[in-house]
Amino acid sequence: MRFLVTGGAGFIGSAFVRAVLRDFPTAEVVIFDALTYAGNLSTIADVLDSGRVKFVPGRIQDVASVEGTFRSFPPTHVVNFAAESHNDRSLLDAGSFIQTDVAGVYVLLEACRKFGVERFLQVSTDEVFGSILEGEFTESSPIEPNTPYAASKAGGELQVRAHVKAFKTPALVTHGGNSYGPFHFPEKLIPFFIVRLIDGKKVPLYGEGDQIREWIHVDDHAEGILHALMHGTPGESYNVGDVNERRNRDVVSILLEETGRDESFVKKIPDPRKGAHDARYSMNCDKLRALGWSPKREFIASLRETVRWYRENEAWWRPLIATADYQSFIKRFYGPSLGDDL
Ligand SMILES: NC(=O)c1ccc[n+]([C@@H]2O[C@H](COP(=O)([O-])OP(=O)(O)OC[C@H]3O[C@@H](n4cnc5c(N)ncnc54)[C@H](O)[C@@H]3O)[C@@H](O)[C@H]2O)c1
Repeated sequence: MRFLVTGGAGFIGSAFVRAVLRDFPTAEVVIFDALTYAGNLSTIADVLDSGRVKFVPGRIQDVASVEGTFRSFPPTHVVNFAAESHNDRSLLDAGSFIQTDVAGVYVLLEACRKFGVERFLQVSTDEVFGSILEGEFTESSPIEPNTPYAASKAGGELQVRAHVKAFKTPALVTHGGNSYGPFHFPEKLIPFFIVRLIDGKKVPLYGEGDQIREWIHVDDHAEGILHALMHGTPGESYNVGDVNERRNRDVVSILLEETGRDESFVKKIPDPRKGAHDARYSMNCDKLRALGWSPKREFIASLRETVRWYRENEAWWRPLIATADYQSFIKRFYGPSLGDDL
């Protein structure tokens, strides 16, 4: 098997590559990644050392780079993790989200059609379904995205649906839940709060922190994607989540405890997502469970382990938060509400 993993230098893509190397000892892997601010060679240093993984720099919306890669490394399996993936950044400027999450998926689908593959899997998100106050999303819930990020992911997965119908492309979609674990770029709630608390800085909680998220460990998410790829049916979509709903403020309490900080480190700020802030996500994952997958990591112990990982791996994240891009995003997004606590 020859896996082309786009976005493999990011958080979930790198965990997926580790799972492939572990479960398929003869598989070859190419990671194709633009190395945006969220992708880093330091995230995949271990897999590149394995000698079984080749890195190719490139953007998925660039037809020549994508086709060149399909020609020099004809893949049997293509898994697309490449995306602009941060909701809050999409509120500031959604242009790059449309380019990568919509146009890029189209270019990959066209390459699969032209060169032929056994399987294409588009990694999508539960956020395409919008918010659900009661009950759970199933794979056939309506697509009702509420942020530019979620809308761009919806656009990507709807193109997959169209290619399945129109061209019989052997493609699948997974909807993943909010993920946490090592190598998570420090801008989303859990890693952002961890690095700030380690540094003794206040953390900005949106409103009262009442939003409910269903957290899944990155390795469980990656293994779920791999399971859907190998055992799922082309044309189908699969939800990949854990039975683990938590209010944001309860997650923050664990982070405070594990970093030795108290409630005075939490600054409640007006919700910058305003009406677009989904109150609750919850997915029914019976369809993938019926194929033999289930998440294995227990949330509280794994979250504490994640905090310890950030303590022990400052060499990974310190250079990331020192960049001008990072500093400027934090200042632009949180400056008005954090003020002197920035
Ligand atoms: N993080 C989550 O909680 C979560 C939950 C559900 C679904 N997802 C989806 O999973 C996928 C991976 O998410 P993540 O958290 O690992 O994201 P990430 O931001 O950590 O990584 C994205 C990777 O894609 C690369 N990339 C970005 N634009 C590219 C382009 N145009 N061409 C090639 N490479 C490009 C980046 O360099 C980076 O390596 C995304 O599609 C995201 O929508 C994420």
